[in-house]
Amino acid sequence: MYDLTVVIPTFNEKSNVRPLFQVLQAALMGQNWEAVYVDDDSPDGTADEVRALASEVENVRVLHRKGRRGLSGACIEGILSSTSEFCAVIDADLQHDEKILPQMLGALQKDETLDLVIGSRNISGGSSGDGLSPIRKWGSDQATSITRRLLKIEASDPMSGFFMVRRLSFNQIVTTLQSEGFKILADMLAASSGRWNILEIPYTFRERHSGDSKMSTAVTLEFLSLLLARLSGGLVSIRFVLFAAVGFSGIFVQLAAMKLVLSTGQISFVWAQTFGVFVAINSNFIFNNLITFRDHRLKGSAFFKGLFSFYLVCAFGALVNIGIANIVYSTLSSSLFASLCGAIAGALWNFIASSLFTWKTR
Ligand code: GDD
Ligand code: MN
Repeated sequence: MYDLTVVIPTFNEKSNVRPLFQVLQAALMGQNWEAVYVDDDSPDGTADEVRALASEVENVRVLHRKGRRGLSGACIEGILSSTSEFCAVIDADLQHDEKILPQMLGALQKDETLDLVIGSRNISGGSSGDGLSPIRKWGSDQATSITRRLLKIEASDPMSGFFMVRRLSFNQIVTTLQSEGFKILADMLAASSGRWNILEIPYTFRERHSGDSKMSTAVTLEFLSLLLARLSGGLVSIRFVLFAAVGFSGIFVQLAAMKLVLSTGQISFVWAQTFGVFVAINSNFIFNNLITFRDHRLKGSAFFKGLFSFYLVCAFGALVNIGIANIVYSTLSSSLFASLCGAIAGALWNFIASSLFTWKTR
């Protein structure tokens, strides 16, 4: 059994596997530790590279996930796969300074009331160094200040992907964590709602060793959804927030498409409206496939099969919408309220049914 498990989420990081292990080994010399690479079936063969490394050294494992994507989920599974009393999470690309790991471990071992140690760029002695472009640095600063205010987080660097946690503490909150996101630390801090005893240790963020960042627009949208999900007190998930936002965009697509064909003067309103709805269903499918369900994205022939099943799901959704609205209207006779109830019931149906049948998330 090891004292420390270092969890390393990887996606297309083949050429960073060995360099990272080398610096970890140097930093943790004399400690009883293991490395777990959690790989989401990277096309570049990262998992095979880890297997090759594991055949040479004792303390390396791979957790090879098939058909799944997501940084937070990878970190959670990596931590849950180990038995160590302490778990660290570090990026594979050598951007985080592994040299502070012994200090993090020492602090947790010395002080039993300490739950979490964060590697921070935002306290004296730490910095974002050359690790972020000016525009990403700006975005990161904005996200940090919004997150700290909205989620009432005191730590200076909730966006950090570099931390070490006590297993017993982690186990208390793990069931409430969102596996779809990119910012597991922010989620953990929100989940612990001020009860945790936290220490921050400064470090300087470095440039990526090799390969490309997985940061993207979708990641940013996912992050905003995490904030909303947390603010709802866990009532809605990241995925549901994204699904609802796409549905909302569909209203505008429908209006624009309807207006466009109506303006030709060749078509009646009913047909223009039908056309608008059809275009909106298609655009909702495309955006949900790109963003909401990007970890289960459908490609090739699966795309068209999925689109067809989405048509069926939405057709039933319309029936659910009308049926519920009718029931509410007949008891409360408020048309606005009844219509709203119908819309919410229809949206819930669409979300649950498309998760199950179109993108098959469970
Ligand atoms: N298993 C898995 N699945 N790993 C992933 C996935 C995924 O879907 N997406 C990214 N990773 C891995 C990458 O391979 C890398 O090792 C690590 O997660 C971080 O991804 P990067 O693409 O390098 O992110 P970044 O450098 O833009 O941002 C990172 O550093 C920031 C500063 O600490 C992240 O850790 C951020 O959360 C963090 O704020
Ligand atoms: Mn990185």
